[in-house]
Amino acid sequence: MLLASYLVGWLLLTGAFTALARTLDTRQHPLRGPVRLVRGAVLFLTLLTLVGHELGWGDPLTATTWRLNTLRVVETLLWLAVIAAAVGIATHLATTRREGTQYHTRVPKLLLDIVRLILVLVGACFVVSGVWGYDPTGLLTALGVSSIVLGLALQNTLDNVMVGIAVLFERPFEVGDWITVGSITGEVVEMNWRSVRIRTRARDLVIVPNSVIGKETLVNMSRPTKAHAESHVIGFSYDDPPNKVKRVLMGVVRSTRGVLADPVPAIRTVNYAAYSIEYQVRFFIEDYQRQQEINDEFMTRVWYAAKRNHLNIPFPIQTSYEYHGELPKPPDQHKRTAAALASVPVFVPLEPAELDALSHECEQLDFGRGERVVNQGDPGDAMYVVLEGTAIVTITDGTGSEREVARLSRGEFFGEMALLTGDPRTANVTAVDDLSTLVVHKSALESMLHKRPGLAQEMAEIVESRRLGLKAVKDLQIAPPEKQAAVQHAAGELLGRVRRFFGL
Ligand code: CMP
Repeated sequence: MLLASYLVGWLLLTGAFTALARTLDTRQHPLRGPVRLVRGAVLFLTLLTLVGHELGWGDPLTATTWRLNTLRVVETLLWLAVIAAAVGIATHLATTRREGTQYHTRVPKLLLDIVRLILVLVGACFVVSGVWGYDPTGLLTALGVSSIVLGLALQNTLDNVMVGIAVLFERPFEVGDWITVGSITGEVVEMNWRSVRIRTRARDLVIVPNSVIGKETLVNMSRPTKAHAESHVIGFSYDDPPNKVKRVLMGVVRSTRGVLADPVPAIRTVNYAAYSIEYQVRFFIEDYQRQQEINDEFMTRVWYAAKRNHLNIPFPIQTSYEYHGELPKPPDQHKRTAAALASVPVFVPLEPAELDALSHECEQLDFGRGERVVNQGDPGDAMYVVLEGTAIVTITDGTGSEREVARLSRGEFFGEMALLTGDPRTANVTAVDDLSTLVVHKSALESMLHKRPGLAQEMAEIVESRRLGLKAVKDLQIAPPEKQAAVQHAAGELLGRVRRFFGL
């Protein structure tokens, strides 16, 4: 009768735990493992233990040694399953937290392992004394002796574990920090008992034993704050005034993406060297992962900015050639400029002599990928003709986000709107790739317009068509027939303004 009720109880409880396990499974709940263990192993072993006791297999006076030991083995398995389930539940309660539908570990893996080990040792003592009737002190003494032996054998491993524990409590770095240990620099991806795993820039995984971390000097680029200083020493010619160099370098630092405004960047004159005056540029970055890209962008832009501002970056000359023949003629820059101007549609009607005159007043300026040529809202007294590369025209709206208006390539020009009207720049223009431009200043265009008033009419039409393009991007799209009429009408008005502005 009692046996039948054990069986019924087991069936009912198994049914209930199966249902519970299914619910936990669907929610990916961390407790689903322990619950399955109770349903499968604990309940069944409990049933066997109860039946065994009911049949008298647990009575040392009447049962045979074989039956007694069989029941003890079953009970030992039962307690092992109970300990495993309890460890699962306890670690879940102590270590996980829920965020939405996800569960995260709150405590580092190393600490969890220590807690689990202690629970298993306590459970083992309990089984040894409660089920088998032995004195647990014997086990503990055995453990003590064997730990000395093990300790000697595993000296290195224990060294790693102890430093691991120290690192855990001292917390000199966390997962996600960028560190340098010895010659290794990378991002910490995992810390465990034995080692720290670091992913380097070469995308390799380096496993640094904790004992090495304990002995080496460790640099954490992500602490105490994520701000990290980068320093460059750049030499400029003795002919370049230091304050001008500093101003240009500061402009480049400020325009480099990823450089922090605070702490403030600093530029110092550090050395009067053999062939250059050396300047140290120091700025802060936050995203160490992008360190090399940020430095690359900065160093690349220095070259373009130096060229635009007629600054010289000297270099020592290693090889000298002596040539006694006729000197090669330097390429005629003005001829090339005039040829480039002749390919611009609005300048096509100009005579060669007029193009030549214009070319003498133009200047070539080069920009690196991503550099701003023209800023929306700035005053402007020059227009640019694209010689090589592509420029993108964008407008910044009230929220600060940029929208593309057009892309301009070889032969096209920009910056004419502010130049012709005296208004602020209507849009931003940025180099998409390396961009080579010819700059036509107001004075040069002025003399051209005086000679050829028809040019003003043509440019006014282009300006108006572009204005409509800007407007379309800003708000409404305008239908082509209306657009045509609107361009002609507005171009007429604009032409009047241009004539007044240039005194034509
Ligand atoms: P400016 O206003 O001096 O400076 C920004 C320049 O962007 C502007 O002159 C034009 O040259 C150019 N720009 C503005 N709108 C357009 C457009 N719709 N299409 C092509 N270029 C444009």
